[in-house]
This record gives sequence, C-alpha cells and structure tokens, in this order.
Amino acid sequence: MNIPIIAIDGPSASGKGTIAERVAERLGFHVLDSGALYRLTALYAMRKGVALTDEAAVAALAASLPAEFRQGEVWLAGENVGQAIRAEEVGEGASKVAALPAVREALLARQRAYAQAPGLVADGRDMGTVVFPQAQIKVFLTASPEARAERRYKQLIEKGNSANLPDLVRDMRARDERDTRRAVAPLKPAPDAVVLDSTAMNIDQVVEAVLECYRASRN
Ligand code: DC
Repeated sequence: MNIPIIAIDGPSASGKGTIAERVAERLGFHVLDSGALYRLTALYAMRKGVALTDEAAVAALAASLPAEFRQGEVWLAGENVGQAIRAEEVGEGASKVAALPAVREALLARQRAYAQAPGLVADGRDMGTVVFPQAQIKVFLTASPEARAERRYKQLIEKGNSANLPDLVRDMRARDERDTRRAVAPLKPAPDAVVLDSTAMNIDQVVEAVLECYRASRN
C-alpha cells in the first residue's frame, strides 16, 4: 500500500514537532515524534541505572520500550513522562543514545509501524534519509542556532523554568555538532528534500509551505 508520508527533519528546536502536529491535524494524518522515542530510551536507561554508553544494554531497552502515546501524552511503564522527557538532561542523553547504531536499529521497526492510512507526518533527523526513504514529501526545516535558542528560551520561561540564553545557544551548537557529525544516520537533508529556513517565518507560514509542497506533489 502506498501510504502518503511527509517527513520533516531538522535540528533541535527548529519547530519540527509543532509543524508536524499542525500539518497532521490539517490533513487528518497520524504523527510520529521520533525524537520522543530517543528521549524515552534515554530516560528509561537513566531510571534503570544503565550507562548511556553501554550500547547493547541501551539497545535492549529501546527494543522493549514499554512506551505509549495516548491523548497527546507520553507514557513509560504506565507513568506519564510527557514533562520528564523534555528536560534538558534527557535531551542530552537522547543525543548520546541516538549516536549508537544498535539503538537506532532497535527503534527502526517501531517507527515504520506508524505508516498507516490515511497518512503519516513523521518528524526527526533521519525520517527522509533512513526511516522513510520512500516518503513523498521531505522537508528539512532549519533556523539559525540563535533563533532556535531564543525559541527554546521562551518555551522554558513560559513553563516557569529558569533559562540562560547564551548557555542555550552554546548547547544548541554542541548538539548540532554531535547530531551532524555522528557516523550513523547523521542529521543532513535528503538529496530530494525541500530545505525550509524558518528563521524569519512564523508557524502558520511554515505549515502553509509544507502543505503547499504536499498539494503540489499530488498534482
Ligand atoms: O527532536 P528531539 O530534540 O526530541 O530529539 C532528541 C534527540 O534524539 C536529538 O539529540 C537527536 C535524536 N534524534 C535522532 O537522532 N533521530 C531522530 N529521528 C530523532 C531524534
């Protein structure tokens, strides 16, 4: 079956998650937040006291992740971890476990199972390159590190967390570096991806641009 897939890849805090959700809502499609799977794997390993460098042990946890996405929330072994997986240290941990080939392999089948009718919007780093190379639409969504750090800063402050903008810019660059340089499934646009730089665009404009690509692909 030829399920329509819209792959949205890009660096941390480029707005992929929000865009993927809105596009999926407009089209009535399913949505896959693949980063959440890496975050869940890191959180699960941290909670189980498994070292994030122990590739075989972390991959075994990833393969048997007792995770569920329900009502816009994320559950791990029956606990709502929607907030916990967004913590900066879990993001850091996710970036580390995501560099391990056995972990990526363990999460592959789980991600592909999301491709169901009437369609899927999948966001991550390697949706268009590795997980869904057959995707009809591939968008590589980016923005300057400063713009992304500022968005993250606003989110954190709005949620009542403390945040430091220069630290966030530095962390953003470090994570980009790690995600782009890793040997396996590095962050890079698929050769057939449309690159969208959202530095000077608002959410609605990006959603429209993605929907326009989708419409154009169907003509
Ligand atoms: O998108 P995010 O910030 O929730 O992703 C968390 C980490 O997981 C990030 O450091 C990169 C990694 N990741 C990945 O390697 N491949 C994906 N498809 C999604 C996320």
